[in-house]
Amino acid sequence: MAPHMQGLETGVSAIDAGNDGLRYLLGRVFEPGVECRRGQGDGQCDRKHCIRLQAIIRYIDRNFAHQERVMAEADYPEAGRHCGDHASLVDKLHIMVRGQVCADRDGQKVRDFISHWAVEHAKRCDHPFSKWAVTRRVLAPKR
Ligand SMILES: [Fe+2]
Repeated sequence: MAPHMQGLETGVSAIDAGNDGLRYLLGRVFEPGVECRRGQGDGQCDRKHCIRLQAIIRYIDRNFAHQERVMAEADYPEAGRHCGDHASLVDKLHIMVRGQVCADRDGQKVRDFISHWAVEHAKRCDHPFSKWAVTRRVLAPKR
């Protein structure tokens, strides 16, 4: 595991599986061999609407929606705050896309930003949810 993505493990499979996927995606999507295609004109990236960033947003959106369903089904009292924290990342990523951040040119910055957010989010939200869920026995322990 990349050192900057450590400390995410919570024991809640909906969260841990999502973070494993995010780690995998962040490791692959910024590799220089990954092509950015816009499908217009000569097919060259216009560096204005980063499709790699949009792919990350789609993944994160799905992943958060799943986690949020798990919290809702468990009647987690802090779900509102937790969901707000998820929304703040998605908002920031949309701002990056609109601000023409390019995953090719600015890949390291984007990866560091998301990794840092993920580690901090795990501390402020995912771990407290995991602790609450285990204490209340609302989720089956991961095997
Ligand atoms: Fe979360």
